[in-house]
Amino acid sequence: MKIVALVGSIRDESYNLALMKTLQKRYREKMEITIANIKELPFYNEDMENNPNEMVQQFKKEIAEADGIIIATPEYNWSIPGVLKNALDWLSRVDKVLQKKPAMIVGVSTGQVGTLRAQLHLRQILASPGLSARVLPPAGNEVLVNHAGAKFENGMLTDESTLSFIDGVIERFITWVNIGKK
Ligand code: FNR
Repeated sequence: MKIVALVGSIRDESYNLALMKTLQKRYREKMEITIANIKELPFYNEDMENNPNEMVQQFKKEIAEADGIIIATPEYNWSIPGVLKNALDWLSRVDKVLQKKPAMIVGVSTGQVGTLRAQLHLRQILASPGLSARVLPPAGNEVLVNHAGAKFENGMLTDESTLSFIDGVIERFITWVNIGKK
């Protein structure tokens, strides 16, 4: 199963990137997770959408060829970071490569509520006509990692109860992806 990951933080020591690297390694027998390079994308511009640069073309191709996507979002001022919104805006136009694409959302914050507000915004964005991704339903599947400082060591998520919860969510995501293939 080929999965493309979007990580909404572009800082080197990002907890969201660390979570994605943890998923990449922990579930490597089940899925191949490739982290897309969204920080090099230009700002979305409608004047460019029919003839975007090589970075955008490559990014859209990568998404089009994936069986599903996983988005790791930080919360910036109660919403998703601009870099992630920009990537999604590119995907929403012309060939609309996210339509019906299975998607799973995860998020890490250093605060108490673990990106809940950002994830609610993200679900709303992914439901828009241009995107219309097939997002794993939230009930029982909300990966909201709070108090990140206490749950990561050496660039990996190490909190056992969080990891075992995510094990279940990943199993349900795999089923969700496979349902769409039938
Ligand atoms: C934050 N942070 C934050 N946390 C939160 O729970 N709710 C919020 O609204 C915000 N807002 C916010 C805005 C900006 C501009 C920054 C830089 C940070 C804190 C955030 O959770 C923390 O910096 C995480 O570590 C960011 O994720 P990465 O970069 O570690 O993946």
